[in-house]
Amino acid sequence: MNIKPTKREYPGDEVTIIWQAHKCIHSEKCWRNLGEVFRYGQKPWVDPNGGSGEVIRKQIDQCPSGALSYVGQEKAELVSEGDLHATLVPNGPIIVKGAIKFTHPDGSSSIEENPVLCRCGASAKKPFCDGSHKKIGFEAS
Ligand code: SF4
Ligand code: FES
Repeated sequence: MNIKPTKREYPGDEVTIIWQAHKCIHSEKCWRNLGEVFRYGQKPWVDPNGGSGEVIRKQIDQCPSGALSYVGQEKAELVSEGDLHATLVPNGPIIVKGAIKFTHPDGSSSIEENPVLCRCGASAKKPFCDGSHKKIGFEAS
């Protein structure tokens, strides 16, 4: 594993945004649709007061990878650790529904809910997809 999961919170007046960079598959939906909040290339790149809570929550609900979430967001209930479903995205990653326990090279472990996993081999954030499959023109059914 190249990276360890990280979780950062951005508290705002109406919503607290949660950002897990390792899950982002760079679909670009957030910053293309709501650039006042998801400020690509700026630091910090998230401004939780850049829009109303309702607008921000609606946009976050569209994040395909779960990299963005917010405090209080409804999550799919996981029946058990053994209840896993994997969807192969054509020319793209594997979207897992369920929780997977990852053991890191240093012996520590973390549990990831609904991870999006690389299957093209080009991600710099393996085992997670980082959108590189688009750059390399990965093809798989
Ligand atoms: S995966 Fe989510 S966080 Fe990443 S660019 Fe797309 S909408 Fe934004
Ligand atoms: S499948 Fe997305 S980076 Fe490999």
